[in-house]
Amino acid sequence: MSDDDQQLRVSKIRNGTVIDHITGGQALNVLAILGIDGTSGDSVSVAMNMPSDRLGKKDIVKVEGKELSQNEVDVLSLIAPAASINIVRDFEVVEKARVERPSMVEGILECPNHNCISTEDEPVKSRFAVVDDGVRCEYCETIIRDDLPAHILAD
Ligand code: CTP
Ligand code: ZN
Repeated sequence: MSDDDQQLRVSKIRNGTVIDHITGGQALNVLAILGIDGTSGDSVSVAMNMPSDRLGKKDIVKVEGKELSQNEVDVLSLIAPAASINIVRDFEVVEKARVERPSMVEGILECPNHNCISTEDEPVKSRFAVVDDGVRCEYCETIIRDDLPAHILAD
């Protein structure tokens, strides 16, 4: 039996995005950032805690038919700083980029301060500055230090 028979790997995708080198255990949080819950019908593959030379353990998320927005990549970089984003077209990786820590993240996260203008019904997009110990709301200065994924806006 060859190696391939014993190890069933996650299939390659035709068109879409492969997010590789995600910090082990963060794949479901990455899906939350991307607003993916499976209901759109697009194929999504998730591999968690795969052996990785660089990271020890890594997660991989493959999404058919979707390219990520810069806002999504920015928030993703905060929970998966070593992630690489691979754009796949017709089975080939046509673009590969490492995520970079942004100075600001917009949308996607929700300010925990219920009196903050960004949490009211007005169309004010949330904006957080990325600081050493977390992210800081640009409107009310509340700092989110821990558990960023718990502050992802529901769609
Ligand atoms: N991939 C995929 N479907 C494709 C092409 C690539 O799912 N049609 C996946 C690969 O399985 C891998 C990632 O996209 O997880 C990056 O592919 P590639 O650049 O070919 O692999 P590596 O050279 O190993 O990437 P790196 O150097 O970033 O580790
Ligand atoms: Zn706020």
